[in-house]
Amino acid sequence: MALSVMGMMLQVVVVAVVMVCVCGKKGDHGGVAMGVLSPCDDAKTNIEIDWDPQSSAEYTCDSDTLSPNVPKIQSSCMEEPDEGIHVCYPHAINYTDIPPTSGRHRPNWPVYGEYTYVPQQRWLHSLEHGAIVMLYHPCADPQQVETLRNIVTGCLRKHIITPYKLLPEEMPFALLTWGCKLLMSSVTTSVATNFIKSRALQAPEGQVAGDGEYNTSLTVPAQTVSDYKDSVICPGQASNTQTADMAGILSGQHRDSNPLASEPENPIVIQSRKRRQQLDAETEKLDRNVKRLIEAYRRLVSVK
Ligand SMILES: *[C@@H]1O[C@H](CO)[C@@H](O)[C@H](O)[C@H]1NC(C)=O
Ligand SMILES: *[C@@H]1O[C@H](CO)[C@@H](O)[C@H](O)[C@H]1NC(C)=O
Repeated sequence: MALSVMGMMLQVVVVAVVMVCVCGKKGDHGGVAMGVLSPCDDAKTNIEIDWDPQSSAEYTCDSDTLSPNVPKIQSSCMEEPDEGIHVCYPHAINYTDIPPTSGRHRPNWPVYGEYTYVPQQRWLHSLEHGAIVMLYHPCADPQQVETLRNIVTGCLRKHIITPYKLLPEEMPFALLTWGCKLLMSSVTTSVATNFIKSRALQAPEGQVAGDGEYNTSLTVPAQTVSDYKDSVICPGQASNTQTADMAGILSGQHRDSNPLASEPENPIVIQSRKRRQQLDAETEKLDRNVKRLIEAYRRLVSVK
């Protein structure tokens, strides 16, 4: 016990030292050291740097409803997703890959569910935790938005749904995971479901289940689907391997027997679970950094 605490402290020190070195060399990244808890983002103060909640510009359609007449599906994954560095306010975060699927983001992540609007700096963190982010152009056909919404909310609890103006007009629907995106001219159920099933929770911190604290403009908090950890993705979709255990889930017993889904929890328990999950995530990041550091050191030594 004492040993592992010491180990962790050592890691913190080592990483902190490396971060100082990296920043000193490469100049200001506008960033915060990865894996260091950030008191710089309480999920409320300064959020207008990413999006002004007083403005409806990001989620208002200002043209006709889009009805692309060329069927198009674009699915791609990055070979090497960008590092998920936490960036404090007041630094802005800008992206070159639109919509972004990896990279720098805000330290605090959103409560899962549907929003009037969530800025990309925020939902990128959800992707890093293995969530599915559903984007739709504000001018997309509302019926198809509803279809895609039903697919996503029926597949897993860890989802974010938000309009996003920067989608191409010929593909106004998108599903994202960490490093991967699926863009569609219209909603194709099988394609969307397969993407979710094969990619959900596949992320650097995919095991972190809990909500963050950010909830500005949250309209529909996510409901439990299979269980709190989304152990079965898209349980309603019969698959060749999981049909047997799905009988129980479909009968509804699974859902009702899940205390997290039905009973209000003690806020202190919720708070401490959130804290622990946050710490777990941060520890994992530290571990990755230390590994990278050790590799870099080995390379350095072998060069000499
Ligand atoms: C960078 O993003 C901020 C929002 O976070 C935005 O206000 C600003 O205009 C962007 N800058 C560029 C150069 O795109
Ligand atoms: C956000 O969370 C706070 C604290 O839990 C709560 O009081 C508030 O009603 C929530 N806002 C939304 C939009 O859900």
